[in-house]
Amino acid sequence: MVPLAIHEFKTHNLLRCSVDDMGMDVESIRKDFPILDRKLPNGKQLVYFDNAATSQKPQCVIDAMSEYYSEYNSNAHRANHTLADEATTALEGARKSISSFFGTSPEQMVYTSGATEAINLVSYGWARENLSSGDVIVLTEMEHHADIVPWQQLSKEKGVEVRYVPIDTDSFTLDMDAFEVAVSGASLVCVVHTSNVLGIRNPIERIVELSHSQGARVLLDCAQGAPHERISFDQSGVDFMAISAHKMGGPTGIGCLLVKRDAMEQMTPFMTGGSMIKTVSVEGSTFQEGHAMLETGTPRIAEAIGWGAAVEWLDRHDMKEIHSHINRIASWTAEQISEIDGITVYGDPTRGDSSGAVSFLHDSIQSQDLALLLDEGGFAVRTGHHCAQPLMDALGVPSTNRASFWLYNTMDEAEAFVEHLRYVVDRFSDK
Ligand code: ALA
Repeated sequence: MVPLAIHEFKTHNLLRCSVDDMGMDVESIRKDFPILDRKLPNGKQLVYFDNAATSQKPQCVIDAMSEYYSEYNSNAHRANHTLADEATTALEGARKSISSFFGTSPEQMVYTSGATEAINLVSYGWARENLSSGDVIVLTEMEHHADIVPWQQLSKEKGVEVRYVPIDTDSFTLDMDAFEVAVSGASLVCVVHTSNVLGIRNPIERIVELSHSQGARVLLDCAQGAPHERISFDQSGVDFMAISAHKMGGPTGIGCLLVKRDAMEQMTPFMTGGSMIKTVSVEGSTFQEGHAMLETGTPRIAEAIGWGAAVEWLDRHDMKEIHSHINRIASWTAEQISEIDGITVYGDPTRGDSSGAVSFLHDSIQSQDLALLLDEGGFAVRTGHHCAQPLMDALGVPSTNRASFWLYNTMDEAEAFVEHLRYVVDRFSDK
């Protein structure tokens, strides 16, 4: 056990690079995120490397939500007064901005509480109606629990077969030969766009092609992909796409499911109540159609407005530049830390399509201890199984530490991180 007494930690002095090699003005981007100036209680400057768990929010998102609450807070879709009208306009305006950001129309978008609810909506609103005993659902070993447990539950209830595609633990990529076998005769393929642990982007285009050739629908979990790549729902050809706002600058508590037109026609309500109905009498009820049938109760108005502001903010930046910037920091960090005695990196952040998650473990400092020692230096990283226990099993580890980057992170922060990690390992490893 590593002792966790009070230690003197090196103070890192972060020089802020103003414009990175790729031409991105990181300094000006950072000014939009007030939290990045935060000092921790021990006086250390915050270095936020837990972006795959949740990103920080630009000031315009905070302002948009605050403006709603201070100036036009009201319920949407319900009343004929000025505030209600403003709230409805803002809620639907956000739907327009968000769906357009994802290359589709507002009619294809269902607001949910996040990607988890979006996947559950496919399970409850589509699969329970359209799949039955003997049908096959294909998952991968690198899915987040949110894209595993709903299908295990469905399997218990309806007798559908769940097949898992393994990963190749040398390249950390999906075993596509195994995928081709697994997809045979499948009705639904559920796959993560980008692994939250490995940062690997899956070959979505090939997966869609192979799945559709078998007549299977495809559900793409874009919780991690959306903050790193401009994804067009219509062009992707997938049938369902699950997205979370909070990893792409938006607030927590909101996300969406994008649904292809013909799949939308096959859906039935998951939750019922107000708003989603046409008529209700004591004899029974009739429902709205399309996305209106799939949203019930008071909408997440402030959150939708905040997410709308986030996509408008992101839209002012070039996602390809963002990706290159993040990829450069992640590749460099992975290369550096893999040279530290006892550190193993899981994944291949040097791949051009990696999203910027660097998972690693030290062979004698336990991951929880290492996280605390990093936090003492001001570095926020995530530790644990990352809601991906089947992937941890495949990797043969119980957990990892994970540094994950977004557009406001800098090479200076990465350098300070590597230096601090070297210091911690020197001081606390068994060797
Ligand atoms: N799924 C999120 C993560 O990877 C919370 O940290």
